[in-house]
Amino acid sequence: MLTPQENVSGDPEAAAQGFGRVTTEQPPDFDPQSEFEAAYGFFEKNGFVVLRQCLKSDEIKHLNEFFDRTQAERPESWGLSDKRKPHHRNQGLIFSQPLLDYPELDDYTQHPSSLPMVSRILGGEDRVRFSEFNFRETPAHAGRGTMNFHHDAVTRDRLIRQPYLPCDWLCAIHYLSDVGADAPSFCVVAQSNRYSTLRDAFDDLGEKYQEIPLRGKAGTCILYDTATFHTRLDGDGVQARRTWHQYYARGGWLPSSLPTTSRYVRPPSPVLTDWNLFPKRLALHPDPKKRLFFSHWNTAQCEWVASGFDLQLRQSMPRGEQ
Ligand SMILES: [Fe+2]
Repeated sequence: MLTPQENVSGDPEAAAQGFGRVTTEQPPDFDPQSEFEAAYGFFEKNGFVVLRQCLKSDEIKHLNEFFDRTQAERPESWGLSDKRKPHHRNQGLIFSQPLLDYPELDDYTQHPSSLPMVSRILGGEDRVRFSEFNFRETPAHAGRGTMNFHHDAVTRDRLIRQPYLPCDWLCAIHYLSDVGADAPSFCVVAQSNRYSTLRDAFDDLGEKYQEIPLRGKAGTCILYDTATFHTRLDGDGVQARRTWHQYYARGGWLPSSLPTTSRYVRPPSPVLTDWNLFPKRLALHPDPKKRLFFSHWNTAQCEWVASGFDLQLRQSMPRGEQ
């Protein structure tokens, strides 16, 4: 019997990263406007979808320049200094909360290329909520990593509720550098969002079980249901990769059903983390639609708001450095 510590590929290097049934074929990618319905249909079936050319060349340039600038300006926020914090260990470089101090990023939070599909998946424009925004980099010559397949946040009702969609959280990963065959790639197991373990997905999906490394040019956007099993698959250990990760949650109350009850109302998704903070200009935005978008506050945020967004309080929190 195979376990995720064994694999069908025969490659012992692949053992820690799933069952090793890695496909060489790429799933279709979609134009987010002209192929909108087909893209939604693909997501509905598979728990992820690839949208092509979601960033303009000047946006890719701006974000790469932002990486270069902030890595030089504040290396400790990227884990580049001697004082590496727990969230900087074992996963390359990450700048966890760039929105706190950089209003130049605000427009990206509701990007016009991907937002219509995000809205469709989460049940409508008025149900989309912000959760988290970060930048990551696998530097050149980083070697091979150790990330295993996992899902992100989930709710228990996902395994039985009807209908399944809208999902609870959605993550958008934008490639900011080209991801070819030898680069570290985001890798998903299609249709695995309906299973509690990767083992269950492997057993039940049978021949349909595939680990799919997603290649794409800079500007590619991958949307995935956070319940979908995924990992960062190692490349050759030489090539670099830059990505922007944004998580969305579902807001509002939704009628639904469970097998044991005729009626069930799904509450808004819980908060994604207990540490993520939204800056004053976004949390208390003058536009009520923006305030609603940034309305999923955790208790750390509540305390920070009550303090009048006190800088010292923020800096006492994990990842709150300035
Ligand atoms: Fe993850």
